[in-house]
Amino acid sequence: MQISEAGAIVFGGASGLGEATARRLAAEGAKVLIADLAEDRAAQIAREIGAQAVVTDVTDPASVQAAVAQAARLGARGLRISVTCAGVGTPGKLIGRDGPTDLEEFAKVIQVNLIGTINAVRLAAAAMLENDPDAGGERGVAINTSSIAAYDGQIGQVAYAASKGGVASLTLPVARELAEHGVRVVAIAPGLFDTPMLEGLPDDAREALSDVTPFPGRLGDPAEYADLVEHVVTNAMLNGEVIRLDGALRMAPR
Ligand SMILES: NC(=O)c1ccc[n+]([C@@H]2O[C@H](COP(=O)([O-])OP(=O)(O)OC[C@H]3O[C@@H](n4cnc5c(N)ncnc54)[C@H](O)[C@@H]3O)[C@@H](O)[C@H]2O)c1
Repeated sequence: MQISEAGAIVFGGASGLGEATARRLAAEGAKVLIADLAEDRAAQIAREIGAQAVVTDVTDPASVQAAVAQAARLGARGLRISVTCAGVGTPGKLIGRDGPTDLEEFAKVIQVNLIGTINAVRLAAAAMLENDPDAGGERGVAINTSSIAAYDGQIGQVAYAASKGGVASLTLPVARELAEHGVRVVAIAPGLFDTPMLEGLPDDAREALSDVTPFPGRLGDPAEYADLVEHVVTNAMLNGEVIRLDGALRMAPR
C-alpha cells in the first residue's frame, strides 16, 4: 500500500507509539487523522505535522464511526491505513491485597484494549471496503497493537495480558475474512518501549526494565515501532501475522 496521499487514522495517536506513527505517516505523505481521548495533545501534534485531530473514545461506537468518516474524507483515495495504539496498562493480580481481582477493573482494561481495538478495526475496515482497489488489488491495511504480554504476561498483568492476547488472536480470522476484499490485518507485539505509559513507573522500576532486553539492551524507541508500521503498510505480503518487536525479550514471571 502506497503511503503518500493515503487517508490514515491513528487511534491513540496523541502519545507514545501512536504519536510516532502519526508523525511518520504524515512525513511519508499520508493524510493523517489523530483519534485520541487526549484533546489538547492530539491537536498540538496535528498542528505540528499538518494532520487533523478528533477527540475519540475507542470504546464508543458513535465516536469511532465519526472519526472513521472524517478520515475517509481526508485522502482522495479514501481511508487506506488504520493503526490502533489506544490502550491502558492498568496492573492487577488475580488475588490482590484486597482479595480477588475486581471484575469492573478487569472489564475496563478489556474494554479499552480489546473491545476498543475490535471497534476501531471493524469500522475502519468497513470504510476500506468502499475503496477502489489499487494496482495490487489492495483496499486497505489495519495494524493493531498487541504486546509481548500476550505471550509472557507477568504476575500482575492478568487483564492486560488477556486483552493483548485477544488482540493477537483476532488477527488471523479477521485477515482471512477480509482477504477477499484486499484488506490486510497485522498486529505488532512490542516489548518494552520508552513512552509515557512507562514513564508512569517509579524511576527504579524503569531503570530495572531498561536493560532487560537482550539486544539492544535498552528500551525501544517509538520511532522503531513506526519503522515497522511503515514496513507493514508497504509490504503487501505481510498479512494475518502478529510480529514481535522486542529485541529477543521474554518477560520473567515478575
Ligand atoms: N510502551 C510499551 O512498552 C508497550 C509495550 C507493549 C504494548 N504497548 C501498547 O502500545 C499501545 C500504545 O502504548 P504507549 O506506550 O504508546 O502508551 P501511551 O500511554 O503513551 O499512549 C496511549 C494513548 O492511548 C490513548 N487512549 C487511552 N484510552 C483511550 C480511549 N479509550 N480512546 C482513545 N484513545 C485512548 C491515550 O490518550 C494515549 O494518547 C498500547 O496499546 C499499549 O498497551 C506498549
